[in-house]
Amino acid sequence: MAKGFCHWALLVLVLILGSIRPSEQLPSSQAQTLIRIQGILNFPAILSSWNNNTDFCDTEPSSSLTVVCYEESITQLHIIGHKGVPPLPRNFSIDSFITTLVKLPSLKVLTLVSLGLWGPMPSKIARLSSLEILNISSNYFYGTIPEEIAYLTSLQTLILDDNMFIGELSDWLSLLPVLAVLSLKKNSFNGSLPSSLGSLENLRILTLSHNRFYGEVPDLSSLDNLQVLDLEDNALGPQFPRLGTKLVTLVLKKNRFSSGIPVEVSSYYQLERLDISYNRFAGPFPPSLLALPSVTYLNIAGNKFTGMLFGYQSCNAGLEFVDLSSNLLTGNLPNCLKSDSKKRVVLYGRNCLATGEQNQHPFSFCRNEALAVGIIPHRKKQKGASKAVLALGTIGGILGGIALFCLVFLVVRRVNAKKATKTPPTKLIAENASTVYSSKLFSDARYVSQTMNLGALGLPAYRTFSLEELEEATNNFDTSTFMGEGSQGQMYRGKLKDGSLVAIRCLKMKKSHSTQNFMHHIELILKLRHRHLVSSLGHCFECYLDDASVSRIFLIFEYVPNGTLRSWISEGRSRQTLSWTQRIAAAIGVAKGIEFLHTGILPGVYSNNLKITDILLDQNLVAKISSYNLPLLAENMGKVSSGISSGGSKEFSVNARVQHEDKIDIYDFGVILLELIMGRPFNSTNEVDVIRNWLQACVTADDASRRNMVDAAVHRTCSDESLKTMMEICIRCLHKDPAERPSIEDVLWNLQFAAQVEDALRGDSDSSDGSPAFPSLPPRLRLNIH
Ligand SMILES: *[C@@H]1O[C@H](CO)[C@@H](O)[C@H](O)[C@H]1NC(C)=O
Ligand SMILES: *[C@@H]1O[C@H](CO)[C@@H](O)[C@H](O)[C@H]1NC(C)=O
Ligand SMILES: *[C@@H]1O[C@H](CO)[C@@H](O)[C@H](O)[C@H]1NC(C)=O
Ligand SMILES: *[C@@H]1O[C@H](CO)[C@@H](O)[C@H](O)[C@H]1NC(C)=O
Repeated sequence: MAKGFCHWALLVLVLILGSIRPSEQLPSSQAQTLIRIQGILNFPAILSSWNNNTDFCDTEPSSSLTVVCYEESITQLHIIGHKGVPPLPRNFSIDSFITTLVKLPSLKVLTLVSLGLWGPMPSKIARLSSLEILNISSNYFYGTIPEEIAYLTSLQTLILDDNMFIGELSDWLSLLPVLAVLSLKKNSFNGSLPSSLGSLENLRILTLSHNRFYGEVPDLSSLDNLQVLDLEDNALGPQFPRLGTKLVTLVLKKNRFSSGIPVEVSSYYQLERLDISYNRFAGPFPPSLLALPSVTYLNIAGNKFTGMLFGYQSCNAGLEFVDLSSNLLTGNLPNCLKSDSKKRVVLYGRNCLATGEQNQHPFSFCRNEALAVGIIPHRKKQKGASKAVLALGTIGGILGGIALFCLVFLVVRRVNAKKATKTPPTKLIAENASTVYSSKLFSDARYVSQTMNLGALGLPAYRTFSLEELEEATNNFDTSTFMGEGSQGQMYRGKLKDGSLVAIRCLKMKKSHSTQNFMHHIELILKLRHRHLVSSLGHCFECYLDDASVSRIFLIFEYVPNGTLRSWISEGRSRQTLSWTQRIAAAIGVAKGIEFLHTGILPGVYSNNLKITDILLDQNLVAKISSYNLPLLAENMGKVSSGISSGGSKEFSVNARVQHEDKIDIYDFGVILLELIMGRPFNSTNEVDVIRNWLQACVTADDASRRNMVDAAVHRTCSDESLKTMMEICIRCLHKDPAERPSIEDVLWNLQFAAQVEDALRGDSDSSDGSPAFPSLPPRLRLNIH
């Protein structure tokens, strides 16, 4: 970029130089000003030729000193010192320097580079109202940029590189309407980029590299003239910037970009240099980037790009430098990159390519890593990062065989958020990516058709989330987003960028394990997607900086908006309660969820401690189980020995399996069913036992006594046949002897039978609660039950 700009600057210079007549006589006041400047700058060597008799307008321009006059005024002043000059002595005053300088009011171009200038930029600079180009690089300016700079309305080029400026870029930018070049690299600017950047329609070069900017890049797509965008080494992201198509140079290196590369990039036909290395990009690498018509430099190193390369893929003939290293690429290096041409550098190490060269990882590493989440220490030098990646490489083969860890999910209760004052610790880093998980991982689920059909579930593909994304979604885990706390972590409600709501469970790890150790569990979790489960959407690891062990795991679930099943049955009577058919439908939903937990995945998930308060209803009143027994860490982490054996967790869950363990869930389901029928909660096993016995007595009695038992809210509308069936299956579920309880398939069959009976009775008529009683029903019904 510097090269391009220099050409351009030189051109301007030549044009301006060419347009002046060489022997203008400068008024003595301006000559005096220059002499004073010489003194204030402490008589630097480059100005040694200046004295009281110098004809400033008639000196030969040199690379370090140029004075240009026009109509008896100095219009350009270029003073360029030696690189790395120390700051001027203590008696230097930036204020008197600028005060002197503004006595050259016609200055259009001012270059004061490497002169040791120090101090905050005085707002008086705004008096140089003709200024078009200002370059004060490589000095020691500090403090913020004075807002008065906005008075320099002719300013086309502002270069403050390599100083110590701080603060945010604020709206003064939008007041510089003709700004074409803005270069602020190597300062300490911070804050997010103002959206007014997107309205600087003359902007051609925007260089903000090596600062501390963070957050999203504002939409720059309307900057039709933008050719150079250099954002290297900030903390920007995660969304790929929106840009116009005329870019020539795009450098996003060393930021926090993680969203995929948008397809538009393939249409940047003028793009010569693309450097997106050392970000957090994940997902497939688009090989079309190699074939961009103008590309000569392509660097994607140090990301987590996945995908398979093929020999036949094509490249732009002009490519001079390609760096694909340290990604998760598989397949074969495209043949077009293999030529031995000395003119072209091709780097591709630390991938999983099918070539013996340049230090490739085994294929499994890329597969596992695509699942896992990498560790790139925040704001550390690149060396650190590649070390961490290497370290991951060495442990890459180990698949975590940890013991079982229990997790109570999603206790979605309205708990006061008092306790949730914990702020995320700062010593930690998180790594992320938004890997979309391939459905191949679902292939060992038995009910493949159910789980694979994500579209039918209406859920986005499972992926990893970045911590930033979660922080943003929860407003930094603000207490207002706190939903509750279970034994193993807190629940937060979050709103993603796309507007969708999610529930986020945060689990603190007690023992240090690398992300690899958790991959077995993540593979299980990502299979837990079913219409009747509150399904997993993804996860996020947060790791300690020092040893990259996992400090917290965030599990992201779909957010189910319509409250608990209990709130529709026996609580909050202000709300409409579920009709009898809706109750049967809810019971079927829960039973299908249980069936999926038991048999839909391997190993099955049993002993889920099902409670009606953990059954949630979505906007269509579809019942979803929100709390199930997952083999995930926390308290059981204590039992994990340091010698991790692969497959250990499977073993453990097999051992842990008690006889008839599936029947524990059947009993819990019976309790839920009981509440659906009776319309009130039961607080103890004793109470359940008593009611069960009573129910048993009624079932064999007549229709009227059965009807007396049932919730007053529905007892007018349920048919005798379905009521009887529901009661019978409920009684069997609550049997003391687990062996006597029905199987989940049996339960489902009976529930579906009850639903069919209702359907048949109702025909196509609407099945809402308020429908009139059936003629077959007894005319008088007792409205009170105990
Ligand atoms: C230049 O002139 C000023 C007065 O106009 C005088 O003070 C100074 O000493 C002179 N400097 C030189 C180098 O002759
Ligand atoms: C500033 O101090 C330097 C020595 O550190 C001295 O040579 C110079 O004359 C002083 N300049 C002024 C303007 O006082
Ligand atoms: C600022 O001026 C210096 C000296 O002429 C030059 O080397 C540098 O490239 C300029 N900065 C930019 C961004 O052009
Ligand atoms: C920017 O940095 C300064 C200190 O250098 C700090 O006081 C300020 O809070 C930072 N601003 C933002 C928005 O981070």
